[in-house]
Amino acid sequence: MHKTIKNIVDMKRKEKITVLTGYDSTMATLCEEVDVILVGDSAGMVMLGYENTSSVTMDDMIRFTTAVKNAKKNSLIVSDLPINSYQNEKDAVTNSLKLIEAGADAVKLEGGREVAKIIKSITESKIPVMGHLGLLPQTAVKYTVQGKTKEDAIKLIEDAKIITESGVFSIVLEMVSSQVAKLITEKISVPTIGIGSGKDCDGQVLVVHDMLGLFEKLKPKFAKRYLSLSEEIRNAVKSYVVEVKDEKFPAIENEFQMDETEYNKLRKEIV
Ligand code: KIV
Repeated sequence: MHKTIKNIVDMKRKEKITVLTGYDSTMATLCEEVDVILVGDSAGMVMLGYENTSSVTMDDMIRFTTAVKNAKKNSLIVSDLPINSYQNEKDAVTNSLKLIEAGADAVKLEGGREVAKIIKSITESKIPVMGHLGLLPQTAVKYTVQGKTKEDAIKLIEDAKIITESGVFSIVLEMVSSQVAKLITEKISVPTIGIGSGKDCDGQVLVVHDMLGLFEKLKPKFAKRYLSLSEEIRNAVKSYVVEVKDEKFPAIENEFQMDETEYNKLRKEIV
């Protein structure tokens, strides 16, 4: 059964929520075990080769969302609103609707109190919103741990409460110190999904290319690698190149043969 927002919210304090990013149909099919597939704007880096997420467009996010939806699996699909797509309430609602029409069950956007009104206008349009606090990749100048001082921690906790009031059904906490992530998780009624924020969050998210060892440009310490797929792919490509050059591939089992009699007739005619 396709997961619902209620299923995810009900998991708080009962069962950890598993989230992986996904941008295409093949990967979404392979990741069907997770509770949520996040069509993240990290697609800009891992799929489109950009330096960061700032060049990702609505058209990109619609295309990736459609691809994930086409996998027709049970995970809840949450799609990122890219930078500049939610600068005012009207744009935020219009663009959220576009992602929902493409197949998302909910949208995600970055920020605290400064986006509270935007979140409210989207949720009032009956579109579920996932929040995102801590390190905000769309605007961050430096990737540093958040919530390291008392003042910073208080602001994060307040922001989490404010956006919960605005109606988010869960909040991603990115690179928040573990103690502060734990406090936020205890103090709000909706699930927190951590990335580099320790074990006490209600769920965890990783960029799928990181956890499979596919993305070589960045290796953040929180992104545990469960495979070294890039190494395996390079080895496979090397074998393919050698076999083609040495005429070992394609072998007889990879070929399609013409009927022998037909072939003989053909040879007589074209000699
Ligand atoms: O875009 C993304 O992949 C994300 C995760 C890092 C949470 O927002």
